[in-house]
Parts: sequence; structure tokens; C-alpha cells
Amino acid sequence: MTTKDATSNLRELQAQAMSELGALRDLSHLEEWRVSYLGRKGKLTQTLRSLGEIPPEQRREAGMAGNEAKQALEIAYGLRLKELEEAALAAKLQQERLDITLPGWPVLSGSLHPTTSIVREVCAAFATMGFQVVEGPEVELDGYNFEKLNIPKDHPARDMWNTLWVDHTDANGGRPMLLRTHTSPMQARIMEKTKPPVRVVVPGKCYRYEATDATHEWHFTQVEGLAVDKGITLADLKGTLYEFARILFGQDRKVRFRCDYFPFVEPGAEMSMDCFLCEGKGCRVCKHTGWIEILGAGMVHPKVLEGVGYDSNTYTGFAFGMGMERMAMLKHGIEDIRLFYANDLRFLKQF
Ligand code: PHE
Repeated sequence: MTTKDATSNLRELQAQAMSELGALRDLSHLEEWRVSYLGRKGKLTQTLRSLGEIPPEQRREAGMAGNEAKQALEIAYGLRLKELEEAALAAKLQQERLDITLPGWPVLSGSLHPTTSIVREVCAAFATMGFQVVEGPEVELDGYNFEKLNIPKDHPARDMWNTLWVDHTDANGGRPMLLRTHTSPMQARIMEKTKPPVRVVVPGKCYRYEATDATHEWHFTQVEGLAVDKGITLADLKGTLYEFARILFGQDRKVRFRCDYFPFVEPGAEMSMDCFLCEGKGCRVCKHTGWIEILGAGMVHPKVLEGVGYDSNTYTGFAFGMGMERMAMLKHGIEDIRLFYANDLRFLKQF
């Protein structure tokens, strides 16, 4: 073979390889192409090997053509490989495309327990009237739950708060302890720590040793209120609680105060509001009376004030207490208080 023939063979081979390269459409064909030209037994490799048959002094031209062909094909191969890889990726992405317009899985979100919601609502209503929110212990001393509230040991009023006693006495003095039967013990605790004016609401859990039924639970939630200052009168009590009823149950509410007895207030009262459902005409919710009793209240008893070191000639105040579950039952038309703590999602999901 002459160097001329070899050179023209190489040029031809290069041209043919280039045109085939341009025509192939996928990576597997590209690999076949590579093997058939650039592989160890490929056409170009073999042609280059055959150049050895040309006498060395004539080999130059063919050698150059060979190098050129090899370089050109290798570069062209690299470019084509990249192109085809990109095309393959694009096709894959297209095929696996996510349809983001499909609706996703709903994210389940929790919601507040109806007791929590009503406590917040009640506290917010009093906050608009300048009351601070404080909390106190659920395991309480007999002294705060009863004695400082003018309920001495043998007082018959203790029967009103059937008590769960704790099998445990307090660390400094071995005094008897109990699960608080109402939030009123916080009255004395707050006054002992603060100088008047005092204006607080105290939300919290209470416990009573009672049989449960549709309107009684052995644990429940109260919000206590206390306002003490110079010159506070029953008119302040009425005005404050009236405003509260209107915030919670609508601007048209009417309220009614009637005498009631609690040892730590004098005078004591219960407050009712006209039924928000039938507007006082009488229905199931108000048990056909037109009125719904919502809280106990009264002017703080002088003995309670004196007991915490307040001068009852200078300071007067009012206090009130109400049940949160009952309030939520009224608002939502819930008929059984036991639903609140039965942990039944069918009930809880409604709020
Ligand atoms: N603590 C009373 C109860 O649980 C309610 C109350 C609070 C009444 C404050 C008067 C004043 O029944």
C-alpha cells in the first residue's frame, strides 16, 4: 500500500464515520459506532495499524492523516455523546414530569379543645376591661381552699365542695392538702402577694368528689375573677359582668342578679342572662325559664380581706367564678359535659 492510498482511505473512512455519527439517534447506536470505528478492533484502529506496512520514509503523509482522523472522530464522538445524553435526560424528565396541578394529600391540622377556646375567649373579654390573667396550683392547701375563704373546718358550706383529699401533706408544716374544689383559693394567694388595686382573672382546673352525669364532671375548669380597690361597689360588679355577658353572648343580652350564698362574699349573688337562643321566650336550653344561670359572684367578705392583711374599711372588692365547660356547652349546644374529656375525636373534631 502506498502512502497516497492510505491517506485517501483514511479521509474516506473519516468522512463516512462523520456522516454516520450525524445520523444516529440514540446512545446505544452511538456505542455501536464507537466500537466499530474507535474500538480496539474498529475500522480506524485497524487502518492505523496497517500503516506499519508502509515503508517508514513514506509514512509521514498517511501518518498525519491518521492522527487527524483519530482526533477528529474522538472530538466529534465526545460532542455527540454529550448531545445524546442531554436529549435522553430531557426525554426522561418529560416522561417523569410531576403534574403539580393534581390535588395533594390534605395536611391534617389539630384544633383547640373547646375548653381551651372558651377559656381564652373569657380571659380575652376580661382583658379588654383591664384584668390580668394569672394561674395557681391545682394541689392546694386546705387553708387557701377553705379557711382563708371564711369556710372553717366544721362549716356546713364545705359540703358544697365535696373534696378530693391528697394523701400527702405540705412540706413546710405538714398541713393537709387537697385538689382545689374551685379557683377561689387564688383570691387569697393573689392578695397576699399584691397591694391593691387588684384586677385579675384566674383560669384553671378544679376537682370535686362527685358522681358524674350530663352536667357534672369530677374535674372541670373555672375562671375566677377578683377586683379590689378603694371604692369598689356592687355597681362595678354588675357593670363588669354585664359587659362580659354581652361580649360573650351578644350585645342584646340582659342579665339578672339574685341573692345567693357563698361564705367568702357578702352580699353574694348568682347571675343569669336571658336565653340567647330563644331571647327569653323559653326553650330547651333555658329549660323553659327564659334565663340561664352562668356564674356566682359577690362583694369580697371583709373577713377575707382582713385575713390577707387588707384594711376592709379602706378597700372593697368583688369576686366571681364560673364554669368553662358549662359556658362552652351553652355556646355550642353541647348536651353532656362528659363529652369534653372522653377523648372522642368525633366530638373534638367539631371544634
Ligand atoms: N367558687 C364559687 C364556686 O365554685 C364561685 C364563686 C367565686 C362565687 C367567687 C362567688 C365569688 O361555686
